[in-house]
Amino acid sequence: MKLTRADYDRLMMPCYVPMDMLVKRAHGCYMWDTEGRRYLDLTSGIAVNCLGHTPEGVVKVIKKQASELIHVSNIFANVKTLELAAKLEKLTGFERAFFVNSGTEANEAALKLARRAALENYDESKDEIIAFSHSFHGRTFFAVSVAGQDKYSDGFGPKPGAITHLPFNDVEAFKKQISDRTCAVILEPVQGEGGIIQADPEFLKTVRALCDEHHAYLIFDEVQTGVGRTGTLFCYEQTPVKPDILTMAKGLASGIPIGCVLTRTEIAMHFKPGTHGSTFGGNALACAVGCYVLDTIAKPGFLEKVTSKGAFFRAELLKLGQKYGVFSEVRGKGMLIGCVLAEKYKDQAAQLQKLCFKHRLLTLLAGSGVLRLAPPLNIKKEHLKEGLELMEKALQDFTAR
Ligand SMILES: Cc1ncc(COP(=O)(O)O)c(C=O)c1O
Repeated sequence: MKLTRADYDRLMMPCYVPMDMLVKRAHGCYMWDTEGRRYLDLTSGIAVNCLGHTPEGVVKVIKKQASELIHVSNIFANVKTLELAAKLEKLTGFERAFFVNSGTEANEAALKLARRAALENYDESKDEIIAFSHSFHGRTFFAVSVAGQDKYSDGFGPKPGAITHLPFNDVEAFKKQISDRTCAVILEPVQGEGGIIQADPEFLKTVRALCDEHHAYLIFDEVQTGVGRTGTLFCYEQTPVKPDILTMAKGLASGIPIGCVLTRTEIAMHFKPGTHGSTFGGNALACAVGCYVLDTIAKPGFLEKVTSKGAFFRAELLKLGQKYGVFSEVRGKGMLIGCVLAEKYKDQAAQLQKLCFKHRLLTLLAGSGVLRLAPPLNIKKEHLKEGLELMEKALQDFTAR
């Protein structure tokens, strides 16, 4: 069957507007379309393919695991799920894991757990969830209502209640709002979709202290920042606080769908048989790849290189952006990078992204004013340099319009 990009618009629900090509294959940091054109991919499947496309080690693990055990459901325990839970416990200190298939599902489970624990420890009046403007926590109706972007949650009828949105990094607004009614506070340590905005350390200290005072759970959504993306295994390690509940997904199995919620035993115990579940969650194939990913990125020196390559790339991008007067700032941590467009070009990130595509450089957006880059964690410096050359061509076109 000969299919083209035009068939996408005929066959698929119109939720996305993919770039004008049809992907055939990908390897490392390159992608090829059906016309044989090669692209340098600095999107990593939206921060998912942390070891690049089709990495040899992952392919080997998939082949081996697929020939042994793929899926049995959670009515049976399997070795690989336990292996991944044990590795995560060793690396983070969180004693209990719940596996799902996506970031949304991880946050949905975390929010339900926080509500259930508060209800059982106190009463049903302790139901408020505090979240922040520009946050993104996924697309189920609860997760999308909790996130602070109305454009994603409006238009689907009545929303789940007892959710408060506050400005991010605003200590005073937070102090004013949190009370004994608050059962959970959820935040991204670096807001990804919202524009690569870091949580301020002083803000986090206040949030942690007041969560403790009011017996509210602090949930860190590390779906995008986790699994090495920001240069440490989890981004919370670079902050002065540790959350009570931690969610992750994206990079954990390098492209095989997986998500996970981690927490301490006393919180986890509020999920009892029947309170929550997932058919696919924790399947052996995804967990086997998850084990391989964690073993790889926890190797000595791996994460240090993510930090140093990220710092190099950010500095060079800023130089380029300033040479052409297009970027006012290049921010982020490790391999999660946001090129902020200068006031003159504010809201034109999508136009720049299209020009990058013209030069066969694949990039992401984080809102209308930030071009986001999420290269594979193991990308070589020579490929980052190639990215800079292609970016320069796109910037030349952008300013010459
Ligand atoms: C911080 C954050 N949370 C949750 C999600 C939702 O994850 P998923 O698309 O895997 O459901 C995303 C996805 O971009 C994210 O960046």
